[in-house]
Amino acid sequence: MINIAILASGGGSNAREICNYFSKHAVVRVSVLISNRLDAGVHSVATDFGISSLTLKKSQFGDCQFILDTLIHYQVDYIVLAGFLLLIPDCVIEAYQKKILNIHPSLLPKYGGQGMYGHYVHEAVKENNDLKTGMTVHLVNDKYDEGEILFQTSCDINPSMTSDEIAVNVLKLEHKYYSPTIENYILSHKFVLKTN
Ligand code: GAR
Repeated sequence: MINIAILASGGGSNAREICNYFSKHAVVRVSVLISNRLDAGVHSVATDFGISSLTLKKSQFGDCQFILDTLIHYQVDYIVLAGFLLLIPDCVIEAYQKKILNIHPSLLPKYGGQGMYGHYVHEAVKENNDLKTGMTVHLVNDKYDEGEILFQTSCDINPSMTSDEIAVNVLKLEHKYYSPTIENYILSHKFVLKTN
């Protein structure tokens, strides 16, 4: 099997969708859910799907050997970020080149970069009176939200919509498209697939 680690800080709705999508998959499985918060939604997702979950301290995320040992322990092949708000250490980006995916709730490069996450993105979209927004799945490199884009899709904004209503529509797109994008990427990736 090919193992995914999901890293998430917030409610965990994308993590739940991904766990569900791969729960009976022939090739890909979620081997661990990792958060930086004890109260993150991923812990109940982990319980519901019978998957291990961990809460790491900020200092542990900064400890290269510790984080790499943890990923090796869970035989992690790909890292999937689903609303994860800490910076991924360089050593992990180095070790998992082109194997870390992130989801962002806008049409990157618009509304990306440090400090642009979650509701801040939707509020900025509303503030600028944009008539379109969407979601982006991209590879993670050493710069916030600047890695290669793997998938984007958009939705229209009615000027009467609030930023919360925009967020709901974008989240629906995320739930629909993140898992198949992960699957397509992993299955078409030219790395040798493991056989056990
Ligand atoms: C999602 O909308 C995701 O795109 C966003 O956090 C939310 C997590 O929701 N990520 C970012 O803003 C990253 N810059 P969830 O916890 O319900 O999956």
